[in-house]
Amino acid sequence: MNCPRCGKDCYKPADEIIPKLDSYYMACRHCAPDPDLAKDKPFGDLPIQIERCKECRTAPLDAVMLDILQVLVEHGLRNKDDDLRSVGSPLIAVGYPLAYAPRLGQRALIILGKRFTEAAAEDILKRVPEVKGVILDRCVPGVVDPHKGAMENVLLAGCDLRCDILQSLFGDLIIYKTQSKIHIEFPRQSAPKIRLLEKLYMEGELKQVVDGLCGPGTLGLMCALAGAERVVLNDIWQPAIENVILNLEANKDQLKIDKIEYIESTTPGIASEPVLVARASGACEIEVYQGDLGLLFSRAKPGNLCLIDHFPKAETLELENACSCCDRIVKV
Ligand SMILES: C[S@@+](CC[C@H](N)C(=O)[O-])C[C@H]1O[C@@H](n2cnc3c(N)ncnc32)[C@H](O)[C@@H]1O
Ligand SMILES: [Zn+2]
Ligand SMILES: [Zn+2]
Repeated sequence: MNCPRCGKDCYKPADEIIPKLDSYYMACRHCAPDPDLAKDKPFGDLPIQIERCKECRTAPLDAVMLDILQVLVEHGLRNKDDDLRSVGSPLIAVGYPLAYAPRLGQRALIILGKRFTEAAAEDILKRVPEVKGVILDRCVPGVVDPHKGAMENVLLAGCDLRCDILQSLFGDLIIYKTQSKIHIEFPRQSAPKIRLLEKLYMEGELKQVVDGLCGPGTLGLMCALAGAERVVLNDIWQPAIENVILNLEANKDQLKIDKIEYIESTTPGIASEPVLVARASGACEIEVYQGDLGLLFSRAKPGNLCLIDHFPKAETLELENACSCCDRIVKV
């Protein structure tokens, strides 16, 4: 399958990514030591360029950030006093906790930052081969309150599809995100949400699970991997549901899925009445809905456990009331 965003080879199933994890960002024996540039040093005092390794062709992260800063300075978007931190947040295309600064190959990095223009973003893509996409950072993307609509960041150039690797007691999953439309939640070593699922598993709760605000599907799919017999994934926001569908495909073997059926099409933007978009069968019966969690149980069967993972500070009382038909509600 080609990348649904750009048509290139950004998408790979879990089986092709997970076995290679150890070597993704490693140095070869010819790589020079990491330059470890001071992140608060002004551009004017930094080296002009740092060479890529001639053997493996990778670049240290600092070299890539320095090249991006150079382009931004040339476009008049930064000046000689700006430092590497001013560039923005580097998001590795395959994300998992690293104990070292990564070395980057071609199209291994998406950059999310403020004060970018389309012309500068195109130029970054042309001149810095390690960058696969440039996102203008305007907000936390997604739906906090359906009445107030949805927020998105802007993909200025390239592709914004990246994945995070979620590691747990039950095994590993790969979760794709179209990152200009889905909030960033980089996997941390401590992974509190995954630890919570492991605890619920030990309590025997992961049987019939509803992931009511599923985003790209992280928690619900992890419950399926943990052996739940039925999982309902629901989100109001079309990009989240499109990511869930991609993640069902990407983790098909891990989740022992035999068949995925596409039932109704997704609704652009926000959907109110829940619609059953897809159903997967195999080791776990998985249903994917797009709709308001407040209305979900007019269509879907309740579970013994309902997970409510909203944005920090979002009000959930009404949603919790609407989910009271489930035996237990856990706010994540
Ligand atoms: C914090 S995110 C979920 C993150 C997700 N559990 C994960 O681990 O990747 C909250 C999600 O709730 C969704 N949302 C907000 N209000 C909703 C509602 N009333 N019904 C359904 N989904 C809603 C948003 O679209 C967003 O994807
Ligand atoms: Zn792509
Ligand atoms: Zn090398």
